[in-house]
This record gives sequence, structure tokens and C-alpha cells, in this order.
Amino acid sequence: MGQIVVLDQNMVNMIAAGEVVERPASVVKELMENSIDAGAREITVSIEDGGRKLISVTDNGGGIDAEDLARAFEPHTTSKIKTSEDLRAISTLGFRGEALASIASIAQVRAVSRRKDSTSGNSIEIDCGNKGSVGPASSDYGTTIQVRDIFYKLPARRKFLKTANTEMGHIVERFTRIALARGDLDLTLTHNGRELYRLVSQQGLRQRINELFSSGLGEGLLETETDEKGVHIFALMGKPSDSRTSSKFQYVFLNGRFIRDKFISHAIKEAYRGTIEPNRFPVIFLFIQMPYEDYDVNVHPTKIEVRFYNANLVHSQVLGCLREKLLSANLQPQAKLPMAAGSAGADVPTAGHRSREIADAMAEFFRKHKPIPTQQQFIREPTDAKWIPKYKVEDTKHETLQPERKFIQIHDSFIVAPTNDGFIIIDQHALHERIIYEVLSKRLRESKLESQRLLIPESFELTEAQIDVLKANTALIDKLGIELVPFGPRTYAIQAFPTLLAKATPVDFVRDLIDLLVDKGASLDAQGMLSEVLNMAACKAAIKAGQKLSDSEIEQLLADRAKAEFTNCCPHGRPTTIKFSMAELQKQFKRT
Ligand SMILES: Nc1ncnc2c1ncn2[C@@H]1O[C@H](COP(=O)(O)OP(=O)(O)OP(=O)(O)O)[C@@H](O)[C@H]1O
Ligand SMILES: [Mg+2]
Repeated sequence: MGQIVVLDQNMVNMIAAGEVVERPASVVKELMENSIDAGAREITVSIEDGGRKLISVTDNGGGIDAEDLARAFEPHTTSKIKTSEDLRAISTLGFRGEALASIASIAQVRAVSRRKDSTSGNSIEIDCGNKGSVGPASSDYGTTIQVRDIFYKLPARRKFLKTANTEMGHIVERFTRIALARGDLDLTLTHNGRELYRLVSQQGLRQRINELFSSGLGEGLLETETDEKGVHIFALMGKPSDSRTSSKFQYVFLNGRFIRDKFISHAIKEAYRGTIEPNRFPVIFLFIQMPYEDYDVNVHPTKIEVRFYNANLVHSQVLGCLREKLLSANLQPQAKLPMAAGSAGADVPTAGHRSREIADAMAEFFRKHKPIPTQQQFIREPTDAKWIPKYKVEDTKHETLQPERKFIQIHDSFIVAPTNDGFIIIDQHALHERIIYEVLSKRLRESKLESQRLLIPESFELTEAQIDVLKANTALIDKLGIELVPFGPRTYAIQAFPTLLAKATPVDFVRDLIDLLVDKGASLDAQGMLSEVLNMAACKAAIKAGQKLSDSEIEQLLADRAKAEFTNCCPHGRPTTIKFSMAELQKQFKRT
């Protein structure tokens, strides 16, 4: 006797619910998306006990009439598509016609709705797939859907629900995504009667970001926009110094839909390459608009993934737009000096993770050149329009800074140089690293690195595994201008080494290069690997912290800095330069 049976519809819905409804947050997302598709301008989400007890979503959208109310909870029922043609250009958030049926199969659901053009409303109740009849109910126009006791007939799934706080965290995340995508809507979220967010429409994206995350985040973001080849891109981008340890702060929207896409994530990563450390993630809010026909959203049950028909185009447009903005932006951290002791409202230095070091160096600098504060003044130099600190000498012996001297090296590590509205402190190692990185990348883009033959070849031993890695990367090694020849069963000799890396020791460099290839070879693509190698090369060839520099070496470094394309941070993302403004100094010396 045959063993195969046709599952009843409720079982089918419950199975579908497994894909659509992972947790209460999925219900919030589906219901809010339905409200948006219904043209709502205002959506209120009320949650109890992290959504385990109640999820209620009320909107002022178009509403559902009595006939549709009964149908909306049946599987495969939708008002959003009709023919296969419609599937080719989906402009609504929902289209699969399965969300309400799935939700109603795993919880107690009550829906009340009134169409705007109707004088009365209707309601329906469904208890884990058991549908009641539609009856009249008093209601404002719009729709309220209440979902109670999610998974209560599925103890195995209910058991997997986390604490109210954790579930609420997921709900806030889904709410946030929608709130970012739709700044034109009034949105409210409450938990156990407490209002968590009340977002008003037209408040502006930066303000909305401040309210959803933390005040101040929105203002600091860089803004960029392009519109080319049918792809419109708008982004608010975090500066490299705002980077985080996870990609949680990367929000990508495609025509108002929050998506996760590996091509776009890669483009973002590439755009920030060399400006942040490889294991950190930029903060970004990226909005892409393009014709609905140019991608397919029917690839994932929760509609979070799409398939671009021309993924390379999207990748290059996003990369170009973001990278260009980053390279042209002034990313120098602006330092704030701590207020003098005893002053009210002491400022915390905000110059990044090296601020303490810099502040100490500055304190030392000012101690050494101790002026009498009342006699100090800054005089504008008419000749070169640069601010040069000068000290007025009266009764008292003072060191006088020589006006012609335009920089000073402190602690053999930092260079202080005046600018026309203050002065900068340069981390000599970080800056030189960046300059070498840029030169190396440019040369490698054009051809391979120039090398010089070593007078005496330097030999070293390798393991079999290292030899395999070496053989697999001969093209890269050749491009770097390194010539290696076998010199014995497990011995290789370096015969030529890149001229640009003259400061590095060839054997040490090649050993580290092989270690890097062994460690990261499997996880990085060719471009990523090259970037890692360049980071390492730049670090090894750069001037070190603690290295005394002659005036001409400093002049050379400053001249190279002026010529370089991007010098704000080293290839690992640390700042190369911190700017101090005259305004800060004047405040510090109580001149304002
Ligand atoms: N808040 C609402 N206001 C008005 N109509 C709604 C609302 N929620 C659902 N509907 C109607 O119910 C139908 C079924 O909703 P459901 O979410 O199950 O499917 P869908 O949105 O069409 O597709 P998907 O399963 O991808 O979300 C919708 O197509 C819509 O016509
Ligand atoms: Mg839907």
C-alpha cells in the first residue's frame, strides 16, 4: 500500500511558515510591509513580551473589504500580482501571497479593517489555521492585525524563542530597516505599553538615523549621490574612523527594500579598502534605485535577497560612487584639546584611539616650549599667510620659535607643522606607510615592481607546504619584483628584490610574505591578497616611529604627502594626521 499522502492545507501553511516566520520579528516585518504596500502613511507597532504574547500592527492604509478579508489568510492569495508578466517587475514589498496564511497558521490572529470609502469595518479571527467567519466590527479606516501567542501549538518552535529582550532586539532591527527605508512615514513602536520610537515623517534621514541609533551619528556621515546608467545611488557613509567590528551598521536598500547582497557588500568593502583595518566594517546607509525589471526579487522566501541581471554594473557603480567620495573627503580627525585644569565642561579628546598618545605628546611639547600664557600671542604672517606661533619676549627669557622653521619632529615619532588655520600633527610612520602603499599600488597597476639584483643571493629554507604555497603564487611574487630560485631540495635563494622596498631585509620580507600567503591565501581573493601584501610591504619599508629624521627627510615626507592621492589614514585605517584648529587653541588659552 502506498505511503505517500497529500498534506492538508493547514500543514502546507505551517511548513511554509517555517520559512517565512522565524521569530516574532519576521511577523513585524511582514505586517509592516503589508501596511506599506496598502499605502499607509502611519504605522503603529505594539509589542508585548518581546512579541511572544502580542504583535499588533495598525495602519491607515487602503483597508481590506469583507470579501478580501476572508481570502487574505488563504495561501497563495495576493492583490499584488496576477500574471507571470507581473513577476518580471515587482514594485511592491510583498507579492508571494503567503505571509498572512503562514502567520495565521502558527498563532491566534485577529484582523480588523475598514476601507476608506466604506462606513463600516469588518473583522476575522483565525486560530492556528482555523478560520472564523467575517463579521462587522467598528474600526477607523485602515487595518489592524493582532498576532497572539506565536507558535503556541508548536512547542518545539516556541522553545526556540529567546528572552523578551532578545526577541525585542530583533523586532527593533526590523523596525529600524523599514524606518530607514521609508522616511516619509510616521512610525511608532511600543513594548509593554512603553513607547520606544515615535518617528515623524519628513524629519530627514540624518535626524532619523540619530533617533534610531545615537544622536550625533547622522551628522557625521558623508553624503554622496550618483545617477548613471539607470542606477541611482544615494549614500550616507561613515568615515573610516567610525568603522565597527561587525557589519550590523551596513544598511542597503534597493527601491525601498532592505536587502543583503554579496556583490554590494563586496563593493562597500572595496570602497573602504586601505582606509580601515581589514577586520572592521564601515557604517553605511546605501539607497539604490533602479528599474524593477533589472533584478529578480523572487529568490528567497523572506525577500531579503535579490538577483541582479547585471551585478557587475551595480558593483562598479556602488564602488565608484563610494570610493570617489572617500578619496575626496577631508577625513583628518579634528582634535579637541582637553580644557585646562579647573575649567568647567572639560572636553574629551576626540582624535581617535591615539588621542591619549597625541595629547601626551602635545602636553610635552607645550611644557618644553613653555610660554607665559598672558604674553603669548599668535600673529598672522603676511608673507606666507601661515599661522606661526610667536612668543612676545618682555623681562623674561623665552625660547623663540624661528619663523622660518615650518615643522618640528617630536619624540622622533611625530611631526608638527603649521597650517593656515592651526597646525597638524603627523604620525611619521603611518604617513610614510600610506605614501609607500600608494606608490606600490600605482606601480603594480601599471606593471610589475622594479627590482635590483642582490650582490650576494640570500638563501633560506622552507617546508614542503610553504614551497607549495610559493609555487601557487609565482605570478604574484614575480609581479612584486622578487626573483627566487631553488637552491637545494628545500632551499631557495633571493636573487633580486624590489627597489622600492630597499629599507626592508629581503629574507625577512620573503618569509613574512610566505607566512601571509599561508595564513590568508584561502580566505582572500587575488585583489584582497595583493592589498594585504602591499600593507605588509608598506609597513616594512616605511620610516619607523622613534626614528630621528633630518630636516630634508621631513621636507621630503611633507612634499610626498602633498602629492599623494589619499593620505588621511594609513593602509590599516589609523589616522596619519590630526588637525588642531586655532579656535581650539584660543579656547584653551582662554582667548575666546
Ligand atoms: N495591512 C493591509 N492593508 C491592506 N491590505 C492588506 C494588508 N495586509 C494584507 N493585505 C492584503 O492581503 C493580501 C495577502 O497578504 P500577504 O502578506 O499574505 O501576501 P502579499 O503581501 O501579497 O505577499 P507576501 O506573502 O510576499 O507578503 C495582500 O496581497 C493584500 O491585498
Ligand atoms: Mg505581504
